[in-house]
Amino acid sequence: MSNERIPQLKDYSEASLTRAFAALEAEARSAAATLLSSEAVENFRLAWLGRKQGLLNEVSSLWLKSAPAEAKKILGQRFNALKATVESLLDSALGAGPSDASLAAEAIDITLPGTRRLTGAEHPITRTLNELTSIFAALGYSVGVGPEVETDFYNFESMNFPPGHPARDTQDTLVIANQDRRPLRDRLLLRTHTSPVQMRTMESQPPPVRIIIPGKVHRNDAADATHSPIFHQVEGLCVDTNITFSDLKGTLDHAMKALFGSAVKTRFFPSFFPFTEPSADVQISCPFCGGKGCRKCKHSGWIELLGCGMVDPAVFAFAAEKQPAYDPKKISGFAFGMGVERIAMMKYGVSEIGKFYSGDMRFLEMFA
Ligand code: PHE
Repeated sequence: MSNERIPQLKDYSEASLTRAFAALEAEARSAAATLLSSEAVENFRLAWLGRKQGLLNEVSSLWLKSAPAEAKKILGQRFNALKATVESLLDSALGAGPSDASLAAEAIDITLPGTRRLTGAEHPITRTLNELTSIFAALGYSVGVGPEVETDFYNFESMNFPPGHPARDTQDTLVIANQDRRPLRDRLLLRTHTSPVQMRTMESQPPPVRIIIPGKVHRNDAADATHSPIFHQVEGLCVDTNITFSDLKGTLDHAMKALFGSAVKTRFFPSFFPFTEPSADVQISCPFCGGKGCRKCKHSGWIELLGCGMVDPAVFAFAAEKQPAYDPKKISGFAFGMGVERIAMMKYGVSEIGKFYSGDMRFLEMFA
Protein backbone atom coordinates (compact mmCIF):
# COMPACT_ATOMS: atom_id res chain seq x y z
CA MET A 1 0.00 0.00 0.00
CA SER A 2 1.30 3.50 -0.75
CA ASN A 3 0.07 6.99 -0.07
CA GLU A 4 1.80 10.19 -1.21
CA ARG A 5 0.73 12.06 1.96
CA ILE A 6 2.26 9.55 4.32
CA PRO A 7 6.00 8.94 4.08
CA GLN A 8 7.02 5.35 3.44
CA LEU A 9 8.49 3.73 6.53
CA LYS A 10 11.92 2.25 5.70
CA ASP A 11 11.86 -0.05 8.69
CA TYR A 12 10.32 -0.29 12.14
CA SER A 13 13.47 0.56 14.10
CA GLU A 14 12.98 3.02 16.92
CA ALA A 15 15.13 5.67 15.16
CA SER A 16 13.11 5.62 12.00
CA LEU A 17 9.81 5.67 13.94
CA THR A 18 11.04 8.69 15.90
CA ARG A 19 11.99 10.51 12.68
CA ALA A 20 8.70 9.66 10.94
CA PHE A 21 6.45 10.76 13.84
CA ALA A 22 8.50 13.93 14.44
CA ALA A 23 8.01 14.90 10.79
CA LEU A 24 4.24 14.41 11.08
CA GLU A 25 4.06 16.34 14.31
CA ALA A 26 5.99 19.28 12.80
CA GLU A 27 3.61 19.28 9.87
CA ALA A 28 0.57 19.33 12.18
CA ARG A 29 2.02 22.19 14.24
CA SER A 30 2.78 24.38 11.25
CA ALA A 31 -0.67 23.74 9.78
CA ALA A 32 -2.31 24.61 13.12
CA ALA A 33 -0.37 27.87 13.41
CA THR A 34 -2.15 29.40 10.42
CA LEU A 35 -5.78 28.66 11.38
CA LEU A 36 -7.43 32.09 11.16
CA SER A 37 -11.05 31.26 10.41
CA SER A 38 -13.45 28.68 11.77
CA GLU A 39 -13.56 27.22 8.28
CA ALA A 40 -9.81 26.63 8.34
CA VAL A 41 -10.09 24.99 11.77
CA GLU A 42 -12.73 22.61 10.45
CA ASN A 43 -10.56 21.77 7.42
CA PHE A 44 -7.65 21.04 9.74
CA ARG A 45 -9.85 18.72 11.77
CA LEU A 46 -11.00 16.85 8.69
CA ALA A 47 -7.49 16.61 7.24
CA TRP A 48 -6.00 15.13 10.42
CA LEU A 49 -8.76 13.48 12.39
CA GLY A 50 -11.40 12.84 9.71
CA ARG A 51 -12.77 9.34 9.99
CA LYS A 52 -12.26 8.40 6.35
CA GLN A 53 -9.72 10.77 4.80
CA GLY A 54 -7.96 11.84 7.97
CA LEU A 55 -4.18 11.54 7.97
CA LEU A 56 -4.09 9.81 11.34
CA ASN A 57 -6.50 7.23 10.07
CA GLU A 58 -4.22 6.61 7.14
CA VAL A 59 -1.16 6.42 9.36
CA SER A 60 -2.94 3.87 11.41
CA SER A 61 -3.87 1.67 8.46
CA LEU A 62 -0.52 2.10 6.63
CA TRP A 63 1.90 1.78 9.52
CA LEU A 64 0.16 0.08 12.42
CA LYS A 65 -1.61 -2.66 10.65
CA SER A 66 1.42 -3.88 8.68
CA ALA A 67 3.86 -3.55 11.59
CA PRO A 68 5.66 -6.63 12.85
CA ALA A 69 4.39 -7.75 16.22
CA GLU A 70 7.50 -6.63 18.16
CA ALA A 71 7.18 -3.02 16.84
CA LYS A 72 3.45 -2.69 17.52
CA LYS A 73 3.76 -1.56 21.11
CA ILE A 74 6.15 1.33 20.49
CA LEU A 75 4.34 2.30 17.28
CA GLY A 76 1.06 2.41 19.18
CA GLN A 77 2.56 4.66 21.84
CA ARG A 78 3.98 7.06 19.22
CA PHE A 79 0.68 7.07 17.37
CA ASN A 80 -1.31 7.87 20.50
CA ALA A 81 1.09 10.69 21.39
CA LEU A 82 0.74 12.22 17.91
CA LYS A 83 -3.03 11.92 18.08
CA ALA A 84 -3.09 13.66 21.47
CA THR A 85 -0.92 16.47 20.07
CA VAL A 86 -3.19 16.96 17.05
CA GLU A 87 -6.29 16.96 19.27
CA SER A 88 -4.85 19.55 21.62
CA LEU A 89 -3.81 21.72 18.66
CA LEU A 90 -7.38 21.49 17.46
CA ASP A 91 -8.75 22.29 20.93
CA SER A 92 -6.67 25.41 21.26
CA ALA A 93 -7.52 26.49 17.72
CA LEU A 94 -11.21 26.08 18.56
CA GLY A 95 -10.86 27.91 21.86
CA ALA A 96 -8.52 30.69 20.83
CA GLY A 97 -9.81 31.49 17.41
CA PRO A 98 -12.80 33.80 17.60
CA SER A 99 -15.56 33.06 15.16
CA ASP A 100 -15.93 35.16 12.04
CA ALA A 101 -19.18 36.51 13.44
CA SER A 102 -17.62 37.63 16.69
CA LEU A 103 -14.71 39.19 14.83
CA ALA A 104 -17.17 41.12 12.68
CA ALA A 105 -19.09 42.26 15.76
CA GLU A 106 -15.90 43.53 17.38
CA ALA A 107 -14.59 45.27 14.30
CA ILE A 108 -13.55 48.85 15.00
CA ASP A 109 -14.52 51.60 12.63
CA ILE A 110 -11.39 53.74 12.80
CA THR A 111 -13.14 56.53 10.90
CA LEU A 112 -15.47 57.23 13.86
CA PRO A 113 -14.49 60.12 16.18
CA GLY A 114 -12.80 58.90 19.37
CA THR A 115 -13.91 59.27 23.00
CA ARG A 116 -12.47 62.46 24.42
CA ARG A 117 -10.97 61.99 27.87
CA LEU A 118 -10.82 64.96 30.22
CA THR A 119 -7.30 65.78 31.28
CA GLY A 120 -6.82 67.26 34.71
CA ALA A 121 -6.01 70.93 35.18
CA GLU A 122 -4.53 73.04 37.94
CA HIS A 123 -7.05 74.56 40.30
CA PRO A 124 -7.03 78.38 39.88
CA ILE A 125 -5.74 78.80 43.45
CA THR A 126 -2.92 76.32 42.87
CA ARG A 127 -2.15 78.03 39.59
CA THR A 128 -1.93 81.44 41.25
CA LEU A 129 0.22 80.04 44.08
CA ASN A 130 2.56 78.48 41.53
CA GLU A 131 2.68 81.61 39.43
CA LEU A 132 3.62 83.76 42.42
CA THR A 133 6.17 81.20 43.55
CA SER A 134 7.87 81.12 40.16
CA ILE A 135 8.00 84.92 39.90
CA PHE A 136 10.02 84.94 43.13
CA ALA A 137 11.97 81.79 42.25
CA ALA A 138 13.24 83.74 39.23
CA LEU A 139 14.56 86.37 41.67
CA GLY A 140 16.51 83.72 43.57
CA TYR A 141 13.95 82.98 46.30
CA SER A 142 13.56 79.43 47.56
CA VAL A 143 10.29 77.95 48.80
CA GLY A 144 9.56 77.47 52.48
CA VAL A 145 6.75 75.65 54.27
CA GLY A 146 5.55 75.37 57.85
CA PRO A 147 2.78 73.69 59.83
CA GLU A 148 -0.86 74.76 59.57
CA VAL A 149 -1.40 73.81 63.21
CA GLU A 150 0.96 76.30 64.80
CA THR A 151 1.92 77.36 68.31
CA ASP A 152 0.94 80.68 69.81
CA PHE A 153 4.67 81.44 69.98
CA TYR A 154 5.32 81.28 66.23
CA ASN A 155 1.98 82.68 65.10
CA PHE A 156 1.93 85.63 67.54
CA GLU A 157 4.61 86.02 70.19
CA SER A 158 7.71 85.72 67.98
CA MET A 159 6.00 87.94 65.42
CA ASN A 160 5.96 90.64 68.09
CA PHE A 161 2.34 90.33 69.16
CA PRO A 162 2.89 90.25 72.95
CA PRO A 163 0.32 88.35 75.06
CA GLY A 164 -2.79 90.50 75.37
CA HIS A 165 -1.69 92.78 72.53
CA PRO A 166 -4.78 94.25 70.87
CA ALA A 167 -3.46 93.28 67.42
CA ARG A 168 -4.32 89.68 68.30
CA ASP A 169 -8.00 90.58 68.29
CA THR A 170 -7.82 91.67 64.69
CA GLN A 171 -7.14 88.08 63.65
CA ASP A 172 -10.02 85.98 64.84
CA THR A 173 -8.11 82.88 65.74
CA LEU A 174 -9.33 79.28 65.68
CA VAL A 175 -7.67 77.62 68.67
CA ILE A 176 -7.29 73.94 69.48
CA ALA A 177 -9.43 73.02 72.51
CA ASN A 178 -8.35 71.79 75.99
CA GLN A 179 -4.88 73.31 76.24
CA ASP A 180 -5.47 75.59 79.20
CA ARG A 181 -2.83 73.83 81.28
CA ARG A 182 -0.10 74.58 78.76
CA PRO A 183 1.88 77.82 78.89
CA LEU A 184 0.37 80.32 76.43
CA ARG A 185 3.28 80.17 74.01
CA ASP A 186 2.90 76.40 73.55
CA ARG A 187 -0.83 76.40 72.91
CA LEU A 188 -1.85 75.22 69.46
CA LEU A 189 -3.96 77.13 66.99
CA LEU A 190 -4.66 77.16 63.26
CA ARG A 191 -2.19 79.66 61.88
CA THR A 192 -3.86 82.93 60.96
CA HIS A 193 -1.13 83.96 58.51
CA THR A 194 2.00 82.49 56.88
CA SER A 195 4.25 84.88 58.85
CA PRO A 196 5.21 82.25 61.49
CA VAL A 197 7.23 80.54 58.75
CA GLN A 198 9.42 83.66 58.68
CA MET A 199 10.56 82.80 62.19
CA ARG A 200 10.83 79.06 61.52
CA THR A 201 13.05 79.83 58.52
CA MET A 202 15.31 82.27 60.37
CA GLU A 203 15.70 79.86 63.29
CA SER A 204 16.85 77.14 60.91
CA GLN A 205 19.35 79.15 58.84
CA PRO A 206 21.59 82.19 59.26
CA PRO A 207 21.24 85.16 56.89
CA PRO A 208 21.14 85.76 53.97
CA VAL A 209 17.54 84.54 53.48
CA ARG A 210 15.33 84.90 50.43
CA ILE A 211 12.26 82.80 50.87
CA ILE A 212 8.75 82.60 49.48
CA ILE A 213 6.13 80.80 51.57
CA PRO A 214 2.90 79.66 49.91
CA GLY A 215 0.34 78.17 52.27
CA LYS A 216 -3.09 77.71 53.77
CA VAL A 217 -4.29 79.87 56.67
CA HIS A 218 -7.41 79.96 58.86
CA ARG A 219 -9.43 82.72 60.45
CA ASN A 220 -12.71 82.60 62.26
CA ASP A 221 -14.40 84.78 59.63
CA ALA A 222 -17.99 84.33 58.50
CA ALA A 223 -18.07 83.25 54.87
CA ASP A 224 -19.32 85.85 52.42
CA ALA A 225 -18.54 86.85 48.82
CA THR A 226 -14.97 87.81 49.67
CA HIS A 227 -14.25 85.97 52.95
CA SER A 228 -13.64 82.33 53.71
CA PRO A 229 -12.47 80.85 57.04
CA ILE A 230 -9.82 78.93 55.08
CA PHE A 231 -7.76 80.76 52.47
CA HIS A 232 -4.23 81.02 51.14
CA GLN A 233 -1.37 83.44 51.49
CA VAL A 234 2.01 83.90 49.94
CA GLU A 235 4.60 85.30 52.32
CA GLY A 236 8.00 86.63 51.38
CA LEU A 237 11.09 87.32 53.48
CA CYS A 238 14.41 88.77 52.42
CA VAL A 239 17.22 89.30 54.95
CA ASP A 240 20.76 90.35 54.13
CA THR A 241 23.18 93.18 54.76
CA ASN A 242 22.00 96.60 53.55
CA ILE A 243 18.45 95.64 52.54
CA THR A 244 16.47 98.86 52.24
CA PHE A 245 12.89 99.97 51.71
CA SER A 246 13.81 100.65 48.05
CA ASP A 247 14.64 96.97 47.64
CA LEU A 248 11.18 96.16 49.00
CA LYS A 249 9.50 98.64 46.63
CA GLY A 250 11.47 97.46 43.60
CA THR A 251 10.83 93.79 44.36
CA LEU A 252 7.07 94.18 44.84
CA ASP A 253 6.71 96.54 41.87
CA HIS A 254 8.42 93.93 39.69
CA ALA A 255 6.26 91.11 41.10
CA MET A 256 3.00 92.99 40.49
CA LYS A 257 4.04 93.81 36.90
CA ALA A 258 4.97 90.17 36.33
CA LEU A 259 1.58 89.13 37.72
CA PHE A 260 -0.79 91.69 36.18
CA GLY A 261 1.14 93.07 33.21
CA SER A 262 3.85 95.69 32.79
CA ALA A 263 1.36 98.59 32.60
CA VAL A 264 0.45 98.15 36.27
CA LYS A 265 1.79 100.74 38.74
CA THR A 266 2.24 100.33 42.50
CA ARG A 267 2.00 102.75 45.40
CA PHE A 268 2.79 102.32 49.09
CA PHE A 269 0.73 103.65 52.01
CA PRO A 270 1.78 103.76 55.65
CA SER A 271 0.20 100.93 57.61
CA PHE A 272 0.81 98.86 60.71
CA PHE A 273 1.88 95.29 61.39
CA PRO A 274 3.51 94.33 64.70
CA PHE A 275 6.32 92.46 62.91
CA THR A 276 7.36 95.16 60.43
CA GLU A 277 8.53 98.75 61.00
CA PRO A 278 7.87 100.78 58.96
CA SER A 279 4.88 98.94 57.47
CA ALA A 280 2.98 99.62 54.27
CA ASP A 281 -0.08 98.58 52.33
CA VAL A 282 0.55 98.17 48.63
CA GLN A 283 -1.97 99.27 46.05
CA ILE A 284 -1.79 98.56 42.34
CA SER A 285 -3.32 100.70 39.61
CA CYS A 286 -6.60 99.06 38.61
CA PRO A 287 -5.76 96.49 35.90
CA PHE A 288 -9.39 96.59 34.67
CA CYS A 289 -9.68 100.31 33.83
CA GLY A 290 -6.01 101.24 33.72
CA GLY A 291 -6.50 103.63 36.65
CA LYS A 292 -9.33 105.71 35.18
CA GLY A 293 -11.82 104.44 37.75
CA CYS A 294 -14.42 101.69 37.40
CA ARG A 295 -16.75 99.55 39.51
CA LYS A 296 -13.96 97.06 40.32
CA CYS A 297 -11.74 99.72 41.92
CA LYS A 298 -14.70 101.60 43.41
CA HIS A 299 -13.87 104.47 41.04
CA SER A 300 -10.59 105.17 42.79
CA GLY A 301 -8.28 103.78 40.10
CA TRP A 302 -6.37 101.76 42.74
CA ILE A 303 -6.79 98.36 44.37
CA GLU A 304 -5.19 97.39 47.69
CA LEU A 305 -3.46 94.05 47.37
CA LEU A 306 -0.87 93.29 50.03
CA GLY A 307 0.89 94.18 53.24
CA CYS A 308 4.62 94.61 53.71
CA GLY A 309 7.35 96.34 55.65
CA MET A 310 10.90 96.24 56.98
CA VAL A 311 11.42 93.40 59.47
CA ASP A 312 10.99 94.77 62.99
CA PRO A 313 14.19 94.57 65.12
CA ALA A 314 12.09 92.84 67.82
CA VAL A 315 11.48 89.97 65.36
CA PHE A 316 15.22 89.69 64.65
CA ALA A 317 15.77 89.56 68.43
CA PHE A 318 13.55 86.43 68.63
CA ALA A 319 15.45 84.87 65.69
CA ALA A 320 18.79 85.74 67.31
CA GLU A 321 17.95 83.53 70.28
CA LYS A 322 18.68 80.55 68.02
CA GLN A 323 20.75 82.20 65.25
CA PRO A 324 22.92 85.00 66.68
CA ALA A 325 23.71 86.27 63.15
CA TYR A 326 20.29 87.95 63.10
CA ASP A 327 21.75 91.03 64.74
CA PRO A 328 19.66 94.05 63.72
CA LYS A 329 22.78 96.22 63.89
CA LYS A 330 24.37 94.18 61.11
CA ILE A 331 21.52 93.00 58.94
CA SER A 332 18.16 94.22 57.72
CA GLY A 333 15.28 92.78 55.77
CA PHE A 334 11.81 93.14 54.40
CA ALA A 335 8.72 90.95 54.48
CA PHE A 336 5.43 90.91 52.63
CA GLY A 337 2.26 88.88 52.62
CA MET A 338 -0.62 88.63 50.20
CA GLY A 339 -3.95 86.85 49.89
CA VAL A 340 -3.97 84.36 47.03
CA GLU A 341 -7.78 84.15 46.60
CA ARG A 342 -8.01 87.90 46.22
CA ILE A 343 -5.34 87.90 43.51
CA ALA A 344 -6.93 84.90 41.74
CA MET A 345 -10.35 86.61 41.86
CA MET A 346 -8.87 89.67 40.19
CA LYS A 347 -6.84 87.76 37.62
CA TYR A 348 -9.69 85.48 36.57
CA GLY A 349 -12.66 87.80 37.15
CA VAL A 350 -14.23 85.63 39.88
CA SER A 351 -16.77 87.52 41.98
CA GLU A 352 -17.42 84.99 44.75
CA ILE A 353 -14.64 83.37 46.78
CA GLY A 354 -16.86 80.33 47.43
CA LYS A 355 -16.59 79.31 43.78
CA PHE A 356 -13.01 78.17 44.45
CA TYR A 357 -14.14 75.61 47.02
CA SER A 358 -17.47 74.45 45.59
CA GLY A 359 -16.04 71.71 43.38
CA ASP A 360 -18.48 72.79 40.67
CA MET A 361 -17.17 71.31 37.42
CA ARG A 362 -18.75 74.06 35.31
CA PHE A 363 -16.57 76.56 37.17
CA LEU A 364 -13.41 74.43 37.25
CA GLU A 365 -13.64 73.50 33.57
CA MET A 366 -13.15 77.15 32.68
CA PHE A 367 -9.55 76.77 33.86
CA ALA A 368 -8.84 73.50 32.02
N1 PHE B 1 0.77 88.54 57.89
C1 PHE B 1 0.10 89.72 57.40
C2 PHE B 1 -1.39 89.43 57.31
O1 PHE B 1 -1.77 88.30 57.35
C3 PHE B 1 0.63 90.17 56.07
C4 PHE B 1 2.05 90.64 56.11
C5 PHE B 1 3.09 89.76 55.95
C6 PHE B 1 2.34 91.97 56.35
C7 PHE B 1 4.41 90.19 55.98
C8 PHE B 1 3.64 92.44 56.39
C9 PHE B 1 4.66 91.54 56.20
O2 PHE B 1 -2.19 90.33 57.17
